[in-house]
Amino acid sequence: MSGVLAGQVAVVTGASRGIGAATAALLARAGARVVRVARSLPAQPKTGFIDLPCDLTDGTAWRATADRILSGIGPPSIVVSNAGAFLMKPLHDTTQDEFDAQVDINLRAPFAVARALLPAMRTAGRGTFIHIGSVADHSAYPDNAAYSASKYGLRGLHEVLAAEYRGSGVRLCLVSPGPTDTDVWSPIDPDRQPHLPDRANMLRPADVADAVLFVATRPATVHVDWLRLGPA
Ligand SMILES: NC(=O)c1ccc[n+]([C@@H]2O[C@H](COP(=O)([O-])OP(=O)(O)OC[C@H]3O[C@@H](n4cnc5c(N)ncnc54)[C@H](OP(=O)(O)O)[C@@H]3O)[C@@H](O)[C@H]2O)c1
Repeated sequence: MSGVLAGQVAVVTGASRGIGAATAALLARAGARVVRVARSLPAQPKTGFIDLPCDLTDGTAWRATADRILSGIGPPSIVVSNAGAFLMKPLHDTTQDEFDAQVDINLRAPFAVARALLPAMRTAGRGTFIHIGSVADHSAYPDNAAYSASKYGLRGLHEVLAAEYRGSGVRLCLVSPGPTDTDVWSPIDPDRQPHLPDRANMLRPADVADAVLFVATRPATVHVDWLRLGPA
């Protein structure tokens, strides 16, 4: 495969739909071999992808998947830790289980992904590791406590790991998108909520994928540590 990422292996979590699917497709078009990780990947993978179905909140399943990546394919040169879930509820309607589920997929799972893949990338001495955060990782919105707490936590994880890996050849970047038109908004129906942006005025998943490709294709001497993007 030719392209700017020819010869590179990229791992994209949450690649079955939305931002992750758009990112996996764009990285593949740029020439990368793309490992897609999510719970609901098709049984028959599309050409150009290596599909490894996995529930990232299941630590045992993820460790087995990471072993398959590292021993079968080798350390990736690009990781997009994107899998996540959204919850919009006021505090008094948010159950402890809902809070825990947000933290599980938006913070514990990214820690596990980083823990499994970053040391091998450091040994290889190169790579780009991208967390997909959110505007809610640095701005407070009402009815967003569980999601925002998990994403602020993710930003903290990113900042520490970026410091820890500085100089190793592995660059870490936090990409923090604003509202993006994906399935996460379906239970909320933003077009009927005056205080939320209409879907037509949101980012497209392809806009976030473009930002990821930009970060992953900077010269090795350039480190984009945080990229925030939102609708104009
Ligand atoms: N949409 C927005 O407005 C927006 C804005 C800022 C940031 N983000 C962030 O962008 C990322 C992607 O969001 P999206 O809008 O594209 O959401 P989406 O369309 O719902 O996609 C979420 C992806 O995560 C995967 N996933 C969820 N739970 C998983 C689990 N336990 N194990 C493995 N994979 C899991 C899903 O796959 P399966 O269900 O098949 O497992 C799916 O591929 C998230 O981190 C989100 O917080 C979104």
